[in-house]
Amino acid sequence: MSNFNEIKEKIAELKKELRAIIVAHNYQRPEIQNIADFVGDSLELSRQCTEIDAQTIVFCGVRFMAETAAILNPDRTVLLTEGSAGCPLADMVNIDELREWKRRYPRASVVCYVNSSAEVKAESDICCTSANGVKVVDSVANDDIIFVPDQNLGHYISTQTKKNIILYPGFCYVHHRIKPEQVKLAKQLHPDAKVLVHPECRPEVIALAEAALSTSQMLCYAKASSHNSFIIGTEEGILHRLYQENPDKSFYLISNSQICTDMKKTTLETLARTMELRQNIVTVPEEVRLKAKQAIDGMLAIS
Ligand code: 13P
Ligand code: SF4
Repeated sequence: MSNFNEIKEKIAELKKELRAIIVAHNYQRPEIQNIADFVGDSLELSRQCTEIDAQTIVFCGVRFMAETAAILNPDRTVLLTEGSAGCPLADMVNIDELREWKRRYPRASVVCYVNSSAEVKAESDICCTSANGVKVVDSVANDDIIFVPDQNLGHYISTQTKKNIILYPGFCYVHHRIKPEQVKLAKQLHPDAKVLVHPECRPEVIALAEAALSTSQMLCYAKASSHNSFIIGTEEGILHRLYQENPDKSFYLISNSQICTDMKKTTLETLARTMELRQNIVTVPEEVRLKAKQAIDGMLAIS
């Protein structure tokens, strides 16, 4: 029996022992997506976390996603498969910086992207993901909104709403480094392909795209479309499901640097080790959790 199969068997045994469910983000390695009980985008994973019938949630993703699971499931154990897997975008705003921005714009409400720490969520009025940002912003009564931490998603939302969005200057290096010239080149190479990008991309890149979509929205778009080829502007992990769900269609990345190092830290080995040692337990202090939960519940109520 191969080592690969042994690890998979071990994970299956540990799942029973821990009464666990394994959830994974669309950017995870193919073998992790294949072994997971549920794969999705940030919104789907948040929703899934409210419907889970298990004692342990094993999260294959990055810290803020596991924290969201812990915020919504205080009675369950949440394990993050790789303790050091963070999101550099989420780390671009901390609680002190957000409080400073709130002092600067005292009349504005705060919408935080789910890619943020539990403390930042607790200090925000409502949370959003890339799938529901426009809907969430439109649901806020206030016309002035501080949006943290992603400037590109905030800018994209500002083009779809009448609200006055005050942009915090954070960005995701994976999406921000995609340049419009690279999109133009990809279009020259694949003239029949539709361009689908994530709203974390620069405005100049989004302007060249057919649509700006969350990762799961991209999957739905590609499946429903009568087109056969697509240029993809998000992390390369999405290709696994795109090809699985559309074996006869073609997908091209804009560049070869669409890789999120933190998302790739989870391997079958780290997954098995985390479960075996019950390590990387993600917890959120109760006071922070209750406030952060309000921001997430507000989002889930309108999504
Ligand atoms: P989605 O919400 O579209 O899955 O995106 C999450 C993310 O981290 C994007 O970089
Ligand atoms: Fe964070 Fe970007 Fe990685 Fe998504 S792709 S987890 S936003 S660093």
